[in-house]
Amino acid sequence: MRTTGLIWLVVCTIHFVPSPGSCFLHVLIQQQRQFASPTMTMTTTTTLSVSSDSEGGESEEESPSRRQVAGGRRISSDRPRRPPPSSTTRTRDRTRVATETTTAASTERRRAPHQFDHTKADARPFLNIDAGKYTKTQNPNDDAPVYVFSCDNNDDDTSDQNTAKLIPPGTHIQTKSLDNLFPNLEFSFHFNSNSTFRNALRNAIREDIFDTTPSYANMSDKARRMLLLPDSSLQGSWNCNNKANTDTIDVANGNEGGEKEQLRMRKLTQVLAAHLGPNAPTGDAFMTTIGNLCGSHPSTHWIDIVGIMDRKISYSWHQDTGRSHHGADGTRKTVLLGFPREDNYDGTGVFSHAVKLKYERHAPMDHPINEPIVYPNLVVEDEFVVKPRYAMGHEIIMFRDVDILHSAPEVAYRASVMRFM
Ligand SMILES: *[C@@H]1O[C@H](CO)[C@@H](O)[C@H](O)[C@H]1NC(C)=O
Ligand SMILES: *[C@@H]1O[C@H](CO)[C@@H](O)[C@H](O)[C@H]1NC(C)=O
Repeated sequence: MRTTGLIWLVVCTIHFVPSPGSCFLHVLIQQQRQFASPTMTMTTTTTLSVSSDSEGGESEEESPSRRQVAGGRRISSDRPRRPPPSSTTRTRDRTRVATETTTAASTERRRAPHQFDHTKADARPFLNIDAGKYTKTQNPNDDAPVYVFSCDNNDDDTSDQNTAKLIPPGTHIQTKSLDNLFPNLEFSFHFNSNSTFRNALRNAIREDIFDTTPSYANMSDKARRMLLLPDSSLQGSWNCNNKANTDTIDVANGNEGGEKEQLRMRKLTQVLAAHLGPNAPTGDAFMTTIGNLCGSHPSTHWIDIVGIMDRKISYSWHQDTGRSHHGADGTRKTVLLGFPREDNYDGTGVFSHAVKLKYERHAPMDHPINEPIVYPNLVVEDEFVVKPRYAMGHEIIMFRDVDILHSAPEVAYRASVMRFM
């Protein structure tokens, strides 16, 4: 019964794993119970190592299977707590947003600086600008050059059988629209122009998943209400097949009505039908169609990520799993469906930001499944950072986890982003 809604804080301590042909930084992740604990206070002063966005985060949003750290070391897992409002920092040091990335180009800097040199507010200043204004004019930088790690260069690839594979240019991030997936419904138009519809859709998905996830079953009404508040992240599975497979084949009745009653996503089905009419997909079809974009052998993990809204965060580059292969098939993808904060939105801040890699980066064989690979000290120059654009017709992006590093956007401006894996 691990809920996500609550903000996770992740402290990363580096240790280098000497593995041939790889230069992964592995980290020890500790979840801290209290924002104000001494350790946390110290560590949040790094510009890189902390993210409490469940995206930045994204990977650090813990699921039951993700309690192990890279390198196989166990971490103690306290229950997540929403940190107390950090009243101590709220009033001072409103650093300008533009003063970020102070130590550009220092990919050399592999060790966490033991930084007592600036305050938490410096590291994560509150926005003193209008987030939407910022993200509407931010350059998406789609054509960012690909990023090469210094060890990619230095490695004599031919000596290693896991030779780094070149990623074909232009294939890192793909975009889809709701119209692509569900044609002839003007879905993209309705989704983007009507916040009532968008909110109803999102809430229905959250409620249906909540109500059909066994680990949430015995929660009190109060806990349920809190977890379903729109500013909480929530996770579960997008898979609708288990129920369907066992229940929908009703030969005796042979009627579709019987099938509909067995749907998992009932509220979503109603919302879709109410807004899009009789040809709307069922809620189950909606989830499955988007989930199927994940390709072969998806984990079916789903999470609705809200993240930090009122502060600029420092990037915390990571891969969610470092895997996209199952056997010979390397098509497994991460899919993000954006929920913009306002109607007809066109800008950044909805989707994760990304660094396109020149070479695929795979988790080491012994890296725990579904465990993020984090790069706590990696500072990437802004010219390499893609800030994917959200707009009507760009409601979905997808990528292979071995092709990019990603992070919560430095400035988020969204209702949420749903991640299907
Ligand atoms: C937006 O959706 C709501 C909810 O269905 C609907 O009542 C309303 O008419 C829609 N607004 C527009 C402008 O279409
Ligand atoms: C919920 O509570 C019921 C009755 O107390 C119990 O039988 C069931 O196992 C519980 N379910 C979960 C998922 O904890």
